[in-house]
Amino acid sequence: MPAHESSDGKRIFLTHPKGASVEILLFGATVVSWKCRNRDGAGGPVERLFVSSKSALDGTKPVRGGIPIVFPFFGPPTKEQHAGLPQHGFARSSWWSWDKCTILDKDSGVSVRLTFQPAVSVTHDSVRLTYVVTLTEHQLSTNLHVENTSESDQAKAIEFQALLHNYIAAPASEATVVGLKGLQYTDKTDGAFPRKLETRDNVDVLNYTDYVYEDGPREYIVEWAKQGIKVKAIGLKDVVVWNPSIEAGKKMGDMEEGGWEKYICVEPGYVVGWASVEPGQTWMGGQSLTVVD
Ligand code: BG6
Repeated sequence: MPAHESSDGKRIFLTHPKGASVEILLFGATVVSWKCRNRDGAGGPVERLFVSSKSALDGTKPVRGGIPIVFPFFGPPTKEQHAGLPQHGFARSSWWSWDKCTILDKDSGVSVRLTFQPAVSVTHDSVRLTYVVTLTEHQLSTNLHVENTSESDQAKAIEFQALLHNYIAAPASEATVVGLKGLQYTDKTDGAFPRKLETRDNVDVLNYTDYVYEDGPREYIVEWAKQGIKVKAIGLKDVVVWNPSIEAGKKMGDMEEGGWEKYICVEPGYVVGWASVEPGQTWMGGQSLTVVD
């Protein structure tokens, strides 16, 4: 059985016949581990995601690492209907359920499907979220489906933002991101939030970095030494590159000492403006992470 649940019912483990594996915490449907072998097949499966050893994994706080799901807004709430909700929305801090079955896809990948339906009072909208996590030998895909379930005569489109907040395990002092040159971005580390133009072929995170790139090419490579992870986005036009470095990392209560040196976030999202989905329709946004070394 490629998918099974932990004895406490809070985690799902998904395994691929070629040695890759994924662990998903039902709190937030947060992928907390993705392991797979290098392309040359040498050695055993390698952990590809960072999770802070100080992160709460008991449902009291969103996970500091892995792949938290940001929905229905990015950052602090700005719409009246979201007032009072936590930063980055409720999806990453709600308990999800799963289908208890595994789906085999056409490339012999294995998938699990998780679902979450928030109480309408949380959003003032009728929405159902489905998250499909698929594993192949060297790739992890996570696709978020947002269904507008409203049926009344007054039913209207739902507007939302979504982002898949991956923490890719990589030495932050060496890792760079390719694919961002020529994009406009907002620099959130700069109090004035000015928009800038990215001129670099290789974007590093040597200093505190919190950049929101708009309308990117949907394909980025994180590379370091002779290794790399390709990040591909579907339906997620923007991408956030974030690493707090020591400057902001030290101030985060759930960040392990030096944790900021161990990852880079290259987060596909729809976070500039609002995506929308009409009543009875489903929107999909996803990412695939592929080992390319
Ligand atoms: C990034 C944001 O996506 O997430 C940052 O751009 C933010 O501004 C970071 O600090 C982490 O957010 P949080 O809520 O998990 O601390």
